[in-house]
Amino acid sequence: HRANLLMSVSMRDFYQILGVSKSASIRDIKKAYRKLALQLHPDRNPDDPKAQDKFADLGAAYEVLSDEEKRKQYDTYGEDGLKEGHHGSHNDIFSSFFGDFGFMFGGNRQQQDRNIPRGNDITLDLEVTLEEVYSGNFVEVVRVKPVAKEAPGKRKCNCRQEMRTTQLGPGRFQMTQEMVCDECPNVKLVNEERTLEVEIEQGVRDEMEYPFIGEGEPHIDGEPGDLRFRIKVLKHPLFERRGDDLYTNVTISLVEALIGFEMDIVHLDGHKVHIVRDKITKPGARMWKKGEGLPNFDNINIRGSLIITFDVEFPQTQLDEPQKEGENKGRISVGKNSYFA
Ligand SMILES: *[C@@H]1O[C@H](CO)[C@@H](O)[C@H](O)[C@H]1NC(C)=O
Repeated sequence: HRANLLMSVSMRDFYQILGVSKSASIRDIKKAYRKLALQLHPDRNPDDPKAQDKFADLGAAYEVLSDEEKRKQYDTYGEDGLKEGHHGSHNDIFSSFFGDFGFMFGGNRQQQDRNIPRGNDITLDLEVTLEEVYSGNFVEVVRVKPVAKEAPGKRKCNCRQEMRTTQLGPGRFQMTQEMVCDECPNVKLVNEERTLEVEIEQGVRDEMEYPFIGEGEPHIDGEPGDLRFRIKVLKHPLFERRGDDLYTNVTISLVEALIGFEMDIVHLDGHKVHIVRDKITKPGARMWKKGEGLPNFDNINIRGSLIITFDVEFPQTQLDEPQKEGENKGRISVGKNSYFA
């Protein structure tokens, strides 16, 4: 019985816990972790007695599979094969994805006490490429963060103005206002490096914000503020975004415009979009490729269109007589094959 129990404890399937395949990329693993951590966090499942265990399993699965070395050992020898001391803190993992301070539902602090002073919020622009918007990505941001640590000695804290009333005589009072403080243990701010994992979700829109709760400016008497990454989508040299649609321009030759053509457009993730036309193409003509646009942020199974606008390149110089002959008798009559050879 004991042996069985030990077996079942040590036989966790980390791939199954994360819901990813054995060949999952590090990005798939981060994505799966981030999604499940929000679902499985014990604060979100107060009625589930197994919530803590499930959450701990998730942390262990992520810790092992996100580390190339540990993943190799796990793949070869199972969980027993992992070296001692692989139990890092799940809190650290969680806060690298969501921030340090408690838990957020929809980007807000859970219980905000307005009497507690807060450090400033920081908003940082995060530049992302259109390729990242198309395929999704994780960006690691190393933040050097001042963290309050206890120091020897005492300091005045929680200072506030209080009214004091003194009776000076019958029917005569004096009211004075004075500053009253508590004594707190001394603190000093020490810089610590934190790695934050910012997910660039597929289809993310310009100006969208990703909050990291408690990763903003510290406050010596209270809570730190929040850090927000604001998405700035960079201009792309070939594709222009409008909503979920992508626009691109393609220049074709006069011959192609007249006799038709066939070509591949290399998309943002490298896949090829094949286009064929056998009709005459006028300058400014457009071709729509449904489903070849960007994934929709709210439902990545829905995609916009790719809209290709054709420009026709006319010859820059006058043709001389032999060329005119050649154009007439040679190229056009020989047709497509010779042109594309
Ligand atoms: C395509 O060409 C038009 C007209 O020149 C231009 O306004 C537009 O920005 C171009 N689009 C891209 C994606 O280069």
